[in-house]
Amino acid sequence: MPDPTKTTTDIRLDLQTWVEVEEYLENCKAIILPIGSTEQHGPTGAIGTDALTAEAVALQVGRRTGVLVAPTQSFGMAEHHLGFPGTMSLQPSTLLALIHDLVLSLASHGFERVFVINGHGGNIATAKAAFMQAYTTAETRRLAVASKLQCKLANWFMVAPVFSLARELYGDREGQHATPSEIALTLHLEPSLQSKQRPLPEPAPVGPIHGPDDFRLRYPDGRMGSDPFLAKAAHGETLLHKAAAALSNDLTNFMQD
Ligand code: NI
Repeated sequence: MPDPTKTTTDIRLDLQTWVEVEEYLENCKAIILPIGSTEQHGPTGAIGTDALTAEAVALQVGRRTGVLVAPTQSFGMAEHHLGFPGTMSLQPSTLLALIHDLVLSLASHGFERVFVINGHGGNIATAKAAFMQAYTTAETRRLAVASKLQCKLANWFMVAPVFSLARELYGDREGQHATPSEIALTLHLEPSLQSKQRPLPEPAPVGPIHGPDDFRLRYPDGRMGSDPFLAKAAHGETLLHKAAAALSNDLTNFMQD
């Protein structure tokens, strides 16, 4: 249930003092870390789509649960999108080291549950590898919380109620990249993006993902199987609340595990 006493200001880690964080840790050992990507999202979608969406879902989950939300990690593993200008990517090894170091920082202060709300499919493999590294490095094993530390990856776009609503609204034209569901959420969050929406050639190609040159050849306008013109801001608002409700439930269970 949403906690009406919590505002976005209350749950943003970057707006707390260290004294407040120390007090928070006396009652709650969990934190939310949003991660996204800064990468092309087709000819009509914002470069920041995956970071904007992950942050919005994370802040909603934070308000509903009262759990602190760390600043968004807006760069992800987007190597295959580097054929398109504006994409800024971390190599898998860089992202792995970054998530490892952030988890370790939090664990060293007593955080035991790190709930990573992710907006980008390309981060999944690396984030899971980073969690395993964080559990097992010598630095972690020296910490008081070592045996209690747990990290969980929550991909907002893959939670069941979001997935089924996207199918219902867009069918096969949801696609795999620059999807109408994620674009709809950005239209809800940032109305100025509506001016970029226009009909695009159908159907967008589908297929495998290899390197950046190959990606641009296979998917010339950046989309994979999607029709982002179907996106509506009102869909985005519904998708946001469905994602936040499902993930708040998952986070509550995770904290009790
Ligand atoms: Ni995306």
